[in-house]
Amino acid sequence: MKILVTGGAGYIGSHTCVALLEAGYEVVVADNLCNSRAETIERIEEISGKKVSFYQIDVTKEQLVEEVFAQHDFSGVIHFAGLKAVGESVEKPLEYYYNNTVSTMVLAKMCQKYGVDRFVFSSSATVYGENKVPFVETMPLLPATNPYGATKAISERILTDVAKANPNWSVALLRYFNPVGAHESGLIGEVPTGIPNNLMPYITQVAKGKLPKLRVYGNDYPTVDGTGVRDYIHVMDLAEGHVVALEKLTSGVHIYNLGTGQGTSVLQLVQAFTEATGIEIPYEIVDRRPGDIAVCYADVSKAERELGWKARRSIVDMCRDAWNFEKNFTS
Ligand code: NAD
Ligand code: UFG
Repeated sequence: MKILVTGGAGYIGSHTCVALLEAGYEVVVADNLCNSRAETIERIEEISGKKVSFYQIDVTKEQLVEEVFAQHDFSGVIHFAGLKAVGESVEKPLEYYYNNTVSTMVLAKMCQKYGVDRFVFSSSATVYGENKVPFVETMPLLPATNPYGATKAISERILTDVAKANPNWSVALLRYFNPVGAHESGLIGEVPTGIPNNLMPYITQVAKGKLPKLRVYGNDYPTVDGTGVRDYIHVMDLAEGHVVALEKLTSGVHIYNLGTGQGTSVLQLVQAFTEATGIEIPYEIVDRRPGDIAVCYADVSKAERELGWKARRSIVDMCRDAWNFEKNFTS
């Protein structure tokens, strides 16, 4: 069975390629490398001992995508390709709307044309907005507060409508919580451009001495220690969730939260990092970051019940593997 993985050179996509290859799938990657590097494809091959077909193309370009569909007989598509920086999406809304929604439409159109009826989409917990925790798939979504979040909600809607019009389609809308960590080999992981926005890569760069100290955005939230709480999930658990979703999907549209169901505060993550690595992380408390919510964690019972999938790796595993990648990484 052959799967088209868009954005397969990126952070979550590369780990999912490894999980797919290990599960016996053939993998074709389409990625324009706007936020990743070709070397990652070689590393996926090194870890798995298997070959990957790679097309360096922009998946908003219908003709280029069609050439890939014409050359392969796909059993399914996993669509990771997208722009993902919330702050940047506010500055460049058109780029985000165009890239993230046109890519979804082009891929859906090619799936219709070439009779590919399994589609897995990378959505985000951001679509819930500041809802009551834990976030459950059946909750009405709150309007997105930034263009990035809106592109996820719009893509979910597009795929839902296309699936209604194609009753043989099976679509999984996977809402990720906070993916962190790296493959245990240390060969692939998250490579943020510039100064990281996200907490875990910021911590690992402080640990490495690339950044002087962590800035903790607010300690006056109504949480266990006043710092923001998130549901961190090991990227390999997330990757394996995609393989299971692909295998277990039945016709129709299925929404799944992929998280652990556990909330961890910023300071708890810092402490777990020290526990995993023996490295102290200097930090200072600064003002809240605009747009942040206090608490975000998943109700994960649906994925467990329907897919038989559950995240297995601990917070300490996530910190150890994130550090293992960062400490060996040279750019
Ligand atoms: P990433 O930036 O590492 O990977 C995305 C990949 O898509 C990159 O390799 C990039 O080069 C490629 N890409 C972007 N636009 C493209 C285009 N038009 N054509 C071809 N390739 C293109 O990001 P990631 O963290 O691996 O995220 C993967 C997906 O998961 C994204 O859709 C993202 O929005 C979603 N997501 C990520 C998170 C997170 O915290 N990392 C959380 C929720 C959802
Ligand atoms: N934080 C700090 N210091 C930092 C970075 C983050 O204190 O330098 C705090 C944040 O305030 C938050 C927590 O660490 O409380 C996690 O922040 P991240 O930036 O790592 O993650 P977010 O939950 O803010 O954002 C992530 C993705 C978004 C997605 C969102 C909702 O990056 O793309 O989850 O799913 F929209």
